[in-house]
Amino acid sequence: MRLIPLANADQVGRWAAHYIADRIRAFAPSAERPFVLGLPTGSSPQTCYRELIVLYQAGTLSFRHVVTFNMDEYVGLPPEHPQSYHHFMHENLFRHVDIHPEHIHIPDGNAPDLATECRRYEAAIRRYGGIHLMLGGVGSNGHLAFNEPMSPFDSRTRLCTLTDTTRQHNARFFDHDPDRVPRQALTMGLGTLLEAEEVMILVTGQHKALALQAAVEGDVSPRWPVSVLQRHPGCIMVCDIAATTAL
Ligand code: GLP
Repeated sequence: MRLIPLANADQVGRWAAHYIADRIRAFAPSAERPFVLGLPTGSSPQTCYRELIVLYQAGTLSFRHVVTFNMDEYVGLPPEHPQSYHHFMHENLFRHVDIHPEHIHIPDGNAPDLATECRRYEAAIRRYGGIHLMLGGVGSNGHLAFNEPMSPFDSRTRLCTLTDTTRQHNARFFDHDPDRVPRQALTMGLGTLLEAEEVMILVTGQHKALALQAAVEGDVSPRWPVSVLQRHPGCIMVCDIAATTAL
């Protein structure tokens, strides 16, 4: 595991964006095997997305040969709902860059049969030969995507129930009312995430300090889903100084 400590959240986002851009540029793109990028939502990736847009606008980065798979989506929010992850991704990244709409994949939390939707999502990732680089954030309770504590390490894309902690944390996006936060979501599994060639997690703020400690120094345990990344040979934790206070 590589640990990249930087001064602040702004630097974390920029470092991550330049890392992603370098990977995309270095990849020999072909229509058959595009660069496959896994993406998160939340506050952690926002600076990174802004910087990717700046690189695209400067003409030094293109998403023409990039295929994306988002980690998760709430169940039951219409795609145009301001807090749906569909809406977040279009507003914060996709509508600003030259990605082909058919290259964008986000789980459909309104599918009539959610189990079928999860299998379809996994199959779509496999059809592209897997994820090259998975970008992620981490919850303060150590969750990855919506893999809450005690999620199996070999779990696949599935329907999950959010913990009260996560719903309270995400209530800031729902008028500070935890009751408005959906109770369920579709999430890539930990097994899905671990199959990516590289995983890069952005960790900022003192409230993430225990999660970073679990990721870097703690026992590998389902109590802290992020700790499973110690088993991944190509994991990078990019963090600010505030997040390192428990190391
Ligand atoms: C959310 C998302 C995760 C995200 C995490 C941290 O619930 N499902 O994918 O990484 O919580 O969010 P934030 O970056 O806003 O702290």
